[in-house]
Amino acid sequence: STLESLGDVRGKRVLVRSDLNVPLDGTTITDDGRIRASVPTIKALSDAGAKVVVTAHLGRPQRAPEAKYSLAPVAERLGELLGRRVAFATDTVGDSASTAVAGLGEGDVALLENVRFNEGETSKDDAVRGAFADQLAALADAFVSDGFGVVHRKQASVYDVATRLPSAMGGLVQAEIDVLRRLTVEPERPYVVVLGGSKVSDKLAVIDNLLEKADKLLIGGGMVFTFLKAQGHEVGKSLLEVDQIPTCLAYLERAAANGVEIVLPTDIVVDTEFPAGPRTPEPQVVAADAIPADALGLDIGPASGAAFAAALADAKTVFWNGPMGVFEVDAFAGGTRAVAEALTKTPGLSVVGGGDSAAAVRALGFDEAAFGHISTGGGASLEYLEGKDLPGISVLER
Ligand code: 3PG
Repeated sequence: STLESLGDVRGKRVLVRSDLNVPLDGTTITDDGRIRASVPTIKALSDAGAKVVVTAHLGRPQRAPEAKYSLAPVAERLGELLGRRVAFATDTVGDSASTAVAGLGEGDVALLENVRFNEGETSKDDAVRGAFADQLAALADAFVSDGFGVVHRKQASVYDVATRLPSAMGGLVQAEIDVLRRLTVEPERPYVVVLGGSKVSDKLAVIDNLLEKADKLLIGGGMVFTFLKAQGHEVGKSLLEVDQIPTCLAYLERAAANGVEIVLPTDIVVDTEFPAGPRTPEPQVVAADAIPADALGLDIGPASGAAFAAALADAKTVFWNGPMGVFEVDAFAGGTRAVAEALTKTPGLSVVGGGDSAAAVRALGFDEAAFGHISTGGGASLEYLEGKDLPGISVLER
Protein backbone atom coordinates (compact mmCIF):
# COMPACT_ATOMS: atom_id res chain seq x y z
CA SER A 1 0.00 0.00 0.00
CA THR A 2 2.05 2.88 -1.32
CA LEU A 3 1.05 6.54 -1.38
CA GLU A 4 -0.51 6.04 -4.82
CA SER A 5 -2.98 3.58 -3.32
CA LEU A 6 -4.69 6.52 -1.62
CA GLY A 7 -5.70 7.91 -5.02
CA ASP A 8 -6.13 11.64 -5.57
CA VAL A 9 -5.46 13.36 -2.27
CA ARG A 10 -6.22 16.91 -3.41
CA GLY A 11 -8.27 18.65 -0.74
CA LYS A 12 -8.15 15.57 1.52
CA ARG A 13 -6.85 15.75 5.08
CA VAL A 14 -3.94 13.30 5.31
CA LEU A 15 -2.51 12.39 8.72
CA VAL A 16 1.20 11.55 8.45
CA ARG A 17 3.02 9.77 11.29
CA SER A 18 6.64 10.89 11.04
CA ASP A 19 9.57 10.20 13.33
CA LEU A 20 10.76 13.69 14.28
CA ASN A 21 12.43 12.52 17.49
CA VAL A 22 15.56 14.66 17.23
CA PRO A 23 18.16 15.51 19.87
CA LEU A 24 17.70 18.96 21.40
CA ASP A 25 19.97 21.17 23.45
CA GLY A 26 17.35 23.40 25.09
CA THR A 27 15.31 24.42 22.06
CA THR A 28 18.21 24.01 19.60
CA ILE A 29 18.06 20.96 17.34
CA THR A 30 21.53 19.40 17.36
CA ASP A 31 20.92 16.86 14.56
CA ASP A 32 18.02 17.40 12.14
CA GLY A 33 18.61 14.18 10.16
CA ARG A 34 15.22 12.72 10.97
CA ILE A 35 13.40 15.92 10.03
CA ARG A 36 15.21 16.05 6.69
CA ALA A 37 14.41 12.39 6.06
CA SER A 38 10.72 13.11 6.71
CA VAL A 39 10.46 16.02 4.29
CA PRO A 40 10.04 14.15 0.96
CA THR A 41 6.79 12.39 1.95
CA ILE A 42 5.31 15.53 3.52
CA LYS A 43 6.33 17.56 0.48
CA ALA A 44 4.93 15.01 -1.97
CA LEU A 45 1.55 15.11 -0.23
CA SER A 46 1.58 18.89 -0.03
CA ASP A 47 2.53 19.16 -3.71
CA ALA A 48 -0.36 16.84 -4.52
CA GLY A 49 -2.74 19.29 -2.83
CA ALA A 50 -3.40 17.37 0.38
CA LYS A 51 -4.04 19.11 3.68
CA VAL A 52 -1.14 17.56 5.55
CA VAL A 53 -1.44 16.92 9.30
CA VAL A 54 1.82 15.63 10.78
CA THR A 55 1.91 13.78 14.08
CA ALA A 56 5.09 12.76 15.90
CA HIS A 57 6.66 12.24 19.31
CA LEU A 58 9.67 13.73 21.03
CA GLY A 59 11.46 11.82 23.77
CA ARG A 60 9.60 9.84 26.38
CA PRO A 61 7.48 12.31 28.36
CA GLN A 62 5.39 11.00 31.22
CA ARG A 63 2.03 11.56 29.45
CA ALA A 64 1.72 15.19 30.50
CA PRO A 65 2.86 18.23 28.53
CA GLU A 66 6.38 19.25 29.49
CA ALA A 67 8.00 22.22 27.80
CA LYS A 68 11.27 20.40 27.16
CA TYR A 69 9.44 17.79 25.09
CA SER A 70 7.54 20.29 22.95
CA LEU A 71 7.71 19.85 19.16
CA ALA A 72 7.51 23.64 18.64
CA PRO A 73 11.22 23.95 17.62
CA VAL A 74 10.71 21.02 15.25
CA ALA A 75 7.74 22.77 13.57
CA GLU A 76 9.96 25.73 12.86
CA ARG A 77 12.77 23.61 11.39
CA LEU A 78 10.32 21.58 9.33
CA GLY A 79 8.96 24.82 7.90
CA GLU A 80 12.45 25.98 6.93
CA LEU A 81 13.22 22.68 5.23
CA LEU A 82 9.88 22.56 3.40
CA GLY A 83 10.14 26.20 2.41
CA ARG A 84 6.60 26.81 3.60
CA ARG A 85 4.79 27.76 6.78
CA VAL A 86 4.00 24.90 9.14
CA ALA A 87 1.08 25.60 11.45
CA PHE A 88 1.70 24.29 14.97
CA ALA A 89 -1.11 22.95 17.16
CA THR A 90 -0.36 23.15 20.88
CA ASP A 91 -2.27 19.92 21.52
CA THR A 92 -2.59 16.66 19.58
CA VAL A 93 -6.35 16.09 19.47
CA GLY A 94 -7.97 19.04 21.30
CA ASP A 95 -9.20 22.48 20.25
CA SER A 96 -5.88 23.72 18.95
CA ALA A 97 -5.51 20.63 16.75
CA SER A 98 -9.00 20.81 15.25
CA THR A 99 -8.66 24.54 14.64
CA ALA A 100 -5.29 24.07 12.95
CA VAL A 101 -6.65 21.29 10.74
CA ALA A 102 -9.81 23.25 9.87
CA GLY A 103 -7.61 26.17 8.82
CA LEU A 104 -5.60 24.15 6.29
CA GLY A 105 -5.98 24.84 2.59
CA GLU A 106 -4.78 22.56 -0.23
CA GLY A 107 -1.05 21.92 0.17
CA ASP A 108 -0.88 23.40 3.67
CA VAL A 109 0.96 21.61 6.48
CA ALA A 110 0.31 21.47 10.24
CA LEU A 111 2.30 19.72 12.96
CA LEU A 112 0.50 18.51 16.08
CA GLU A 113 2.14 18.76 19.51
CA ASN A 114 3.97 15.71 20.92
CA VAL A 115 1.61 12.77 20.57
CA ARG A 116 3.07 11.18 23.73
CA PHE A 117 1.59 13.95 25.87
CA ASN A 118 -1.56 11.82 25.60
CA GLU A 119 -1.91 8.74 27.76
CA GLY A 120 -3.73 6.93 24.97
CA GLU A 121 -0.72 6.96 22.65
CA THR A 122 1.44 4.50 24.55
CA SER A 123 -1.16 2.75 26.74
CA LYS A 124 -0.92 -1.04 26.93
CA ASP A 125 -4.71 -1.12 27.20
CA ASP A 126 -6.16 -1.64 23.71
CA ALA A 127 -9.35 0.24 24.61
CA VAL A 128 -7.50 3.30 25.92
CA ARG A 129 -5.27 3.36 22.85
CA GLY A 130 -8.26 2.77 20.59
CA ALA A 131 -10.20 5.69 22.04
CA PHE A 132 -7.25 7.98 21.42
CA ALA A 133 -6.79 6.58 17.90
CA ASP A 134 -10.46 7.43 17.21
CA GLN A 135 -9.74 11.06 18.10
CA LEU A 136 -6.66 11.14 15.90
CA ALA A 137 -8.52 9.49 13.02
CA ALA A 138 -11.29 12.10 13.28
CA LEU A 139 -8.75 14.73 12.21
CA ALA A 140 -8.13 13.10 8.82
CA ASP A 141 -9.49 11.31 5.76
CA ALA A 142 -6.43 9.11 5.23
CA PHE A 143 -3.29 7.98 7.05
CA VAL A 144 0.31 7.69 5.88
CA SER A 145 2.80 5.78 8.03
CA ASP A 146 6.22 7.31 7.45
CA GLY A 147 7.88 7.20 10.88
CA PHE A 148 10.25 4.29 10.34
CA GLY A 149 11.88 4.81 13.74
CA VAL A 150 8.60 3.93 15.49
CA VAL A 151 7.21 1.08 13.37
CA HIS A 152 8.28 -1.38 16.08
CA ARG A 153 5.98 0.36 18.56
CA LYS A 154 2.38 -0.80 18.93
CA GLN A 155 1.16 2.71 19.67
CA ALA A 156 -2.00 4.59 18.72
CA SER A 157 -0.46 6.90 16.09
CA VAL A 158 1.58 4.06 14.58
CA TYR A 159 -0.71 1.05 14.77
CA ASP A 160 -4.31 1.69 15.87
CA VAL A 161 -4.97 4.69 13.65
CA ALA A 162 -4.05 2.59 10.60
CA THR A 163 -7.01 0.30 11.35
CA ARG A 164 -9.37 3.28 11.27
CA LEU A 165 -8.47 5.15 8.06
CA PRO A 166 -7.49 4.26 4.51
CA SER A 167 -3.75 3.83 5.09
CA ALA A 168 -0.55 3.73 3.10
CA MET A 169 3.17 3.34 3.64
CA GLY A 170 5.22 6.49 3.11
CA GLY A 171 8.31 6.64 0.94
CA LEU A 172 10.72 6.70 3.87
CA VAL A 173 9.37 3.52 5.45
CA GLN A 174 9.37 1.85 2.05
CA ALA A 175 12.97 2.83 1.33
CA GLU A 176 14.11 1.62 4.76
CA ILE A 177 12.39 -1.74 4.37
CA ASP A 178 13.80 -2.21 0.86
CA VAL A 179 17.35 -1.74 2.13
CA LEU A 180 16.94 -3.85 5.25
CA ARG A 181 15.51 -6.69 3.18
CA ARG A 182 18.82 -6.80 1.30
CA LEU A 183 20.55 -7.49 4.62
CA THR A 184 18.41 -10.50 5.40
CA VAL A 185 17.41 -12.08 2.09
CA GLU A 186 20.37 -13.44 0.12
CA PRO A 187 22.86 -10.72 1.10
CA GLU A 188 25.78 -10.27 -1.26
CA ARG A 189 28.97 -11.77 0.19
CA PRO A 190 31.20 -11.20 2.00
CA TYR A 191 28.64 -9.93 4.51
CA VAL A 192 30.17 -8.15 7.49
CA VAL A 193 28.19 -7.04 10.54
CA VAL A 194 29.73 -4.50 12.90
CA LEU A 195 28.17 -4.20 16.33
CA GLY A 196 29.02 -1.80 19.11
CA GLY A 197 27.26 0.15 21.81
CA SER A 198 27.40 -0.34 25.50
CA LYS A 199 25.45 -3.50 26.19
CA VAL A 200 25.50 -7.06 24.89
CA SER A 201 22.00 -7.50 26.29
CA ASP A 202 20.63 -4.97 23.74
CA LYS A 203 22.12 -6.96 20.87
CA LEU A 204 21.37 -10.58 21.79
CA ALA A 205 18.49 -11.07 19.39
CA VAL A 206 20.29 -9.46 16.46
CA ILE A 207 23.44 -11.52 17.08
CA ASP A 208 21.25 -14.61 17.28
CA ASN A 209 19.57 -13.85 14.01
CA LEU A 210 22.66 -12.72 12.06
CA LEU A 211 25.28 -15.08 13.43
CA GLU A 212 24.72 -17.68 10.72
CA LYS A 213 23.85 -15.19 7.97
CA ALA A 214 27.01 -13.06 8.20
CA ASP A 215 30.54 -14.05 7.21
CA LYS A 216 32.18 -11.87 9.84
CA LEU A 217 30.99 -10.20 12.99
CA LEU A 218 33.16 -7.34 14.25
CA ILE A 219 32.53 -6.38 17.85
CA GLY A 220 33.42 -3.09 19.52
CA GLY A 221 31.97 -0.69 22.09
CA GLY A 222 31.25 -1.46 25.71
CA MET A 223 29.95 -4.91 24.85
CA VAL A 224 33.50 -6.00 24.01
CA PHE A 225 34.42 -6.44 27.64
CA THR A 226 31.86 -9.12 28.33
CA PHE A 227 33.26 -11.04 25.34
CA LEU A 228 36.84 -10.54 26.55
CA LYS A 229 35.85 -11.74 30.00
CA ALA A 230 34.19 -14.79 28.40
CA GLN A 231 37.56 -15.53 26.79
CA GLY A 232 39.12 -15.46 30.23
CA HIS A 233 40.69 -11.99 30.21
CA GLU A 234 40.49 -9.43 32.99
CA VAL A 235 38.77 -6.18 32.02
CA GLY A 236 39.61 -3.90 34.96
CA LYS A 237 36.86 -1.37 35.67
CA SER A 238 35.37 -1.67 32.17
CA LEU A 239 31.67 -2.16 31.60
CA LEU A 240 30.79 -5.78 32.22
CA GLU A 241 27.52 -7.70 32.11
CA VAL A 242 28.37 -10.65 34.28
CA ASP A 243 25.09 -12.43 33.55
CA GLN A 244 25.85 -12.36 29.81
CA ILE A 245 29.26 -14.05 30.02
CA PRO A 246 27.83 -17.52 29.29
CA THR A 247 25.85 -16.11 26.35
CA CYS A 248 28.99 -14.54 24.87
CA LEU A 249 30.84 -17.79 25.31
CA ALA A 250 28.06 -19.64 23.53
CA TYR A 251 28.19 -17.14 20.63
CA LEU A 252 31.95 -17.63 20.29
CA GLU A 253 31.47 -21.39 20.15
CA ARG A 254 28.54 -21.21 17.76
CA ALA A 255 30.45 -18.91 15.43
CA ALA A 256 33.45 -21.24 15.41
CA ALA A 257 31.21 -24.22 14.68
CA ASN A 258 29.59 -22.39 11.74
CA GLY A 259 32.71 -20.93 10.18
CA VAL A 260 31.65 -17.39 11.07
CA GLU A 261 34.51 -15.22 12.20
CA ILE A 262 33.91 -13.12 15.31
CA VAL A 263 36.56 -10.40 15.35
CA LEU A 264 37.26 -8.84 18.73
CA PRO A 265 39.59 -5.88 19.28
CA THR A 266 43.20 -6.68 20.15
CA ASP A 267 43.92 -3.31 21.71
CA ILE A 268 41.84 -0.96 23.84
CA VAL A 269 42.02 2.74 24.73
CA VAL A 270 41.73 2.97 28.49
CA ASP A 271 41.58 5.68 31.12
CA THR A 272 41.38 5.57 34.89
CA GLU A 273 37.97 7.16 35.01
CA PHE A 274 35.07 8.58 33.06
CA PRO A 275 33.62 11.14 32.53
CA ALA A 276 36.58 13.19 31.47
CA GLY A 277 38.31 15.26 34.08
CA PRO A 278 41.93 16.27 34.29
CA ARG A 279 43.66 13.13 33.04
CA THR A 280 46.69 11.81 34.84
CA PRO A 281 47.91 9.84 33.14
CA GLU A 282 46.58 10.49 29.63
CA PRO A 283 44.39 7.82 28.01
CA GLN A 284 46.57 4.84 27.11
CA VAL A 285 46.43 2.03 24.60
CA VAL A 286 46.79 -1.44 26.11
CA ALA A 287 46.53 -4.97 24.75
CA ALA A 288 42.98 -6.31 25.03
CA ASP A 289 44.25 -9.26 27.08
CA ALA A 290 46.20 -7.03 29.48
CA ILE A 291 43.78 -4.39 30.73
CA PRO A 292 45.10 -3.11 34.08
CA ALA A 293 42.91 -3.55 37.14
CA ASP A 294 42.37 0.20 37.63
CA ALA A 295 41.64 0.89 33.94
CA LEU A 296 38.39 1.48 32.14
CA GLY A 297 38.10 0.64 28.43
CA LEU A 298 36.55 3.51 26.46
CA ASP A 299 37.35 2.77 22.81
CA ILE A 300 38.88 0.09 20.61
CA GLY A 301 42.56 0.81 19.91
CA PRO A 302 44.22 1.89 16.65
CA ALA A 303 45.40 -1.63 15.68
CA SER A 304 41.83 -2.89 16.11
CA GLY A 305 40.45 0.03 14.11
CA ALA A 306 42.85 -0.87 11.28
CA ALA A 307 41.94 -4.55 11.49
CA PHE A 308 38.22 -3.75 11.37
CA ALA A 309 38.80 -1.47 8.37
CA ALA A 310 40.71 -4.27 6.62
CA ALA A 311 37.86 -6.69 7.29
CA LEU A 312 35.46 -4.20 5.71
CA ALA A 313 37.61 -3.42 2.69
CA ASP A 314 36.15 -6.08 0.39
CA ALA A 315 32.72 -6.44 1.98
CA LYS A 316 29.75 -6.53 -0.41
CA THR A 317 27.20 -6.05 2.35
CA VAL A 318 27.77 -4.26 5.66
CA PHE A 319 25.47 -3.53 8.54
CA TRP A 320 26.78 -1.39 11.36
CA ASN A 321 25.01 -0.61 14.59
CA GLY A 322 26.54 0.98 17.67
CA PRO A 323 29.60 3.14 18.25
CA MET A 324 32.99 1.53 18.93
CA GLY A 325 33.73 3.81 21.87
CA VAL A 326 32.67 6.96 23.66
CA PHE A 327 32.87 8.91 20.40
CA GLU A 328 31.48 12.09 21.96
CA VAL A 329 34.92 12.57 23.57
CA ASP A 330 37.63 13.05 20.97
CA ALA A 331 40.18 10.86 22.78
CA PHE A 332 37.75 7.92 22.44
CA ALA A 333 36.40 8.58 18.94
CA GLY A 334 39.16 6.86 16.94
CA GLY A 335 37.53 3.43 16.66
CA THR A 336 34.17 4.79 15.57
CA ARG A 337 35.90 7.08 13.08
CA ALA A 338 37.91 4.18 11.63
CA VAL A 339 34.78 2.06 11.12
CA ALA A 340 32.81 4.97 9.60
CA GLU A 341 35.72 5.77 7.28
CA ALA A 342 35.95 2.12 6.19
CA LEU A 343 32.22 2.02 5.47
CA THR A 344 32.52 4.97 3.11
CA LYS A 345 35.02 2.92 1.08
CA THR A 346 33.37 -0.50 0.91
CA PRO A 347 32.51 -1.52 -2.63
CA GLY A 348 29.13 -2.93 -1.60
CA LEU A 349 26.01 -1.89 0.24
CA SER A 350 26.84 -0.17 3.53
CA VAL A 351 24.03 0.37 5.98
CA VAL A 352 24.37 2.39 9.17
CA GLY A 353 21.74 1.47 11.74
CA GLY A 354 20.01 4.47 13.23
CA GLY A 355 20.27 5.93 16.69
CA ASP A 356 23.79 6.39 18.07
CA SER A 357 25.71 5.18 15.04
CA ALA A 358 23.84 7.53 12.69
CA ALA A 359 24.40 10.38 15.14
CA ALA A 360 28.09 9.44 15.39
CA VAL A 361 28.54 9.53 11.61
CA ARG A 362 27.07 13.02 11.45
CA ALA A 363 28.79 14.29 14.61
CA LEU A 364 32.18 13.13 13.28
CA GLY A 365 31.57 15.16 10.14
CA PHE A 366 31.19 12.39 7.55
CA ASP A 367 29.27 13.09 4.36
CA GLU A 368 26.06 11.08 4.60
CA ALA A 369 26.07 10.55 0.84
CA ALA A 370 29.23 8.44 1.20
CA PHE A 371 27.22 5.66 2.89
CA GLY A 372 24.84 3.33 1.12
CA HIS A 373 22.08 4.02 3.59
CA ILE A 374 21.80 5.65 7.00
CA SER A 375 18.72 4.33 8.70
CA THR A 376 16.48 6.71 10.65
CA GLY A 377 15.47 3.91 12.99
CA GLY A 378 17.69 2.55 15.74
CA GLY A 379 15.44 0.11 17.61
CA ALA A 380 13.26 -0.39 14.53
CA SER A 381 16.11 -1.45 12.24
CA LEU A 382 17.45 -3.82 14.89
CA GLU A 383 14.05 -5.41 15.43
CA TYR A 384 13.67 -5.84 11.68
CA LEU A 385 17.02 -7.64 11.56
CA GLU A 386 16.04 -9.69 14.58
CA GLY A 387 13.22 -11.01 12.40
CA LYS A 388 10.52 -9.62 14.67
CA ASP A 389 7.09 -8.55 13.55
CA LEU A 390 6.89 -4.76 13.26
CA PRO A 391 3.33 -3.78 14.21
CA GLY A 392 3.45 -0.52 12.24
CA ILE A 393 4.32 -2.45 9.06
CA SER A 394 2.17 -5.53 9.43
CA VAL A 395 -0.91 -3.40 10.12
CA LEU A 396 -0.47 -1.84 6.68
CA GLU A 397 -0.13 -5.22 5.00
CA ARG A 398 -3.54 -6.42 6.18
C1 3PG B 1 13.95 6.35 18.36
O1 3PG B 1 14.48 7.35 18.85
O2 3PG B 1 14.56 5.27 18.17
C2 3PG B 1 12.54 6.45 17.89
O3 3PG B 1 12.14 7.78 17.74
C3 3PG B 1 11.63 5.69 18.82
O4 3PG B 1 11.65 6.26 20.08
P1 3PG B 1 11.24 5.36 21.35
O5 3PG B 1 12.35 4.35 21.54
O6 3PG B 1 11.12 6.33 22.50
O7 3PG B 1 9.95 4.69 21.03
